[in-house]
Amino acid sequence: MNQWLESHTRPLIIGHRGASAHAPENTLAAFRLAHEQGADGIELDVTRCLSGEVVVIHDDTLDRTTNGEGNVTEWSLAELRTLNAGNGQRIPTLDEVFETVGRDLLINVEVKNPTTSHSGLEAAVVEVVRRNNMTGRVLFSCFNPLVVRKLAILAPEIPRAILYSPDLPIYLRDVWLAPFVPHQFRHPEHSMVTLEYVRYLGRQKLRVNTWTLNNPADITRVAACGVSAIIGDSPKMMREVLAVRG
Ligand code: G3P
Ligand code: MG
Repeated sequence: MNQWLESHTRPLIIGHRGASAHAPENTLAAFRLAHEQGADGIELDVTRCLSGEVVVIHDDTLDRTTNGEGNVTEWSLAELRTLNAGNGQRIPTLDEVFETVGRDLLINVEVKNPTTSHSGLEAAVVEVVRRNNMTGRVLFSCFNPLVVRKLAILAPEIPRAILYSPDLPIYLRDVWLAPFVPHQFRHPEHSMVTLEYVRYLGRQKLRVNTWTLNNPADITRVAACGVSAIIGDSPKMMREVLAVRG
């Protein structure tokens, strides 16, 4: 059984891009710190670089989070290794994240929208998860329902979530493709979460994980709505707000 699907008495606490409030986002330092802060899991973003490896970085380009520039897809892994992703951290591969914290944390792998339908990103990500024996601890998510559908076909044993937010076109915001996309979780942006909405989705056997929660009042509110997981930049703060002990 995949651990995301187990029942729990409080929302899971998931570090968004690791403990990204306190360490450079999507780096091994941020993922280790999330574990030290008592997170149940982490969220991270993956894409494929020029040499084909699955690497962990949020943007399509290197400019915001590293001292490199241009598209990630135009750099080989060897070249990406030379870059500083903050405080001397490197851009990690998904393999390295699994090796570092895969035994300790649940991992929400957000698959970035592949730049072309032939990028092979979905198959490459599934291969890395299976090779690391992480199928019981990974949850996939993506803003593109067609990518979620492809993941369902490639790896039906790994649960999936559809991501969306209020600023998207109505067909994505209201998840019009949902009937054609086998999935177990919805990942709405937190302002979309209400008690009625969580119950409505619950009647469809869908659980709700929500993001990005960095404000105590918002965390308390979505927890009261019955979400399964709260994704935010500071696991330490989320634990304090939810009064998690131990
Ligand atoms: O997966 C939740 C959240 O990370 C989605 O948005 O842009 O931060 O990847 P983004
Ligand atoms: Mg993300």
